[in-house]
Order: sequence, then structure tokens, then C-alpha cells
Amino acid sequence: MSTDIAKRNAAEAALALVQPDMILGLGTGSTAAIFVTLLGDRVKAGLNIVGTPTSEATDKLARQVGIRIVSPDELSRIDLTIDGADEFDPALNLIKGGGAALLREKIIAEASDRMVVIADAAKQVPTLGKFPLPVEVNPFASELTRRRIHARLETAGLGAAPSSWRMATRESLLHTDGGHLILDIACGSIPDPVQLAALLDDVPGVVEHGLFIGYASEVIVGEAGGVRRVLPAR
Ligand code: A5P
Repeated sequence: MSTDIAKRNAAEAALALVQPDMILGLGTGSTAAIFVTLLGDRVKAGLNIVGTPTSEATDKLARQVGIRIVSPDELSRIDLTIDGADEFDPALNLIKGGGAALLREKIIAEASDRMVVIADAAKQVPTLGKFPLPVEVNPFASELTRRRIHARLETAGLGAAPSSWRMATRESLLHTDGGHLILDIACGSIPDPVQLAALLDDVPGVVEHGLFIGYASEVIVGEAGGVRRVLPAR
């Protein structure tokens, strides 16, 4: 319950960053969903904005609450993206993809003038990696790709990290909105996220990975009694 209040506080604080006529990237996950719902209330009260969603789930919710949706293909820029995260470190590097939306989330974050993360305090870590790192993989030759990923993990000193395909049900693999698989890698600790991101980028079957390096300009950390703003450590 206190986590719900913390997430709501973060989402409310992010709402204060929204200006009339903005083009907004709309994130995915439970914290982003609170933001989208609150934004819908503001739209009903007369605020003029448009949103571009990072998942089918967010698209559906945004439409339900009355937000005008625009395809990213119709946009030349996005003013501000508000999204959640599974972990963030002092440099504001993120792990994302707990909701399997990391590819669309990264496309929208990269195209945004500004990305602000909303999260509860449990997401703040000194070193990324306790949350299993989601990697989005093309279904073609997925086991070969998994072996190639593990070869790169070896290079990063993470050779012992177990990985598992994310399941939708006990019998069936989860497929993302784009039809890809998610490999969750229990790294434990990622001492050099920049190096690991580059190693994973080098594997052809990797569609995208959940390391968001240098995207977030700020994290709004929700707490029971309010929010804390975290900027990247220099
Ligand atoms: C979705 O793929 C994720 O990147 C989410 O943004 C992340 O899992 C945070 O979700 P919660 O706000 O539900 O913790």
C-alpha cells in the first residue's frame, strides 16, 4: 500500500512538468499507468496535449482516459517522456523491461528532448543488476542468440549469470508487442553497464536490451510523504 502511495506521489510530481501543447511520450508499467490516468484527468479538465505510447497496454489506457494518441511516425519530436524503471543507479543508468516494453520504451526515450523517470525508492540501487536484465531477442535462432549473449557475458565477467526465457503462461513463451522473446539475465551485479550495453548491442539476434544508458535526465522518487528528485551524479 505504501508503495502505491509512493508511486502516486511520483506520478503527481511528474504531472507538474507537463505544459499545454506538449507532445508526451507515455511510459509503461504500474507507475507510468498512474501518471497516464492522472494526465487523463487533466485532459478532461481542458489541458491540450498529445501522447505517444510505449506499449499496446499504455495505448489502450491512454485512449480510455481520453488522451489524444499520435503515432510516433507522425512526430518529428517528443517534448517529454515520463516512464518508470526497474532500477536506477547514481549515474541514472536504468534497467527497464520488467513489463516487456523495453524496445518501444527505448525508441520513444531516444527521440525525446527529455526523459523523466518516476519510481518508488526501492528502484534506487548503488549498482545495477539485482533486477534481472531483460533482453529482447528475435525468435529466429533464439537459442543460438542466447549462446552468443552468454559469450558476451563471459567477456563482461558475468559468465555465471543464469538466464531464462520469460513465460506468458506455464507452457508458453511471452511475446512482446513486436513479437519478440524476452531473455531475463540474473546478472546479480553489473559493474560496467556501458560495457555490457555495447557487448549486447553487438549480438545480431538481440533486438534491444533493457540497459538505458544516458537517457534519463532526472528521477522523481516517490516516497510515502512526498518526492525526492535525483539528478545524475557527476
Ligand atoms: C516496462 O517494460 C518497464 O520498463 C517498466 O517501466 C518498469 O518495469 C517499471 O514498472 P513499474 O512502474 O510497474 O515498477
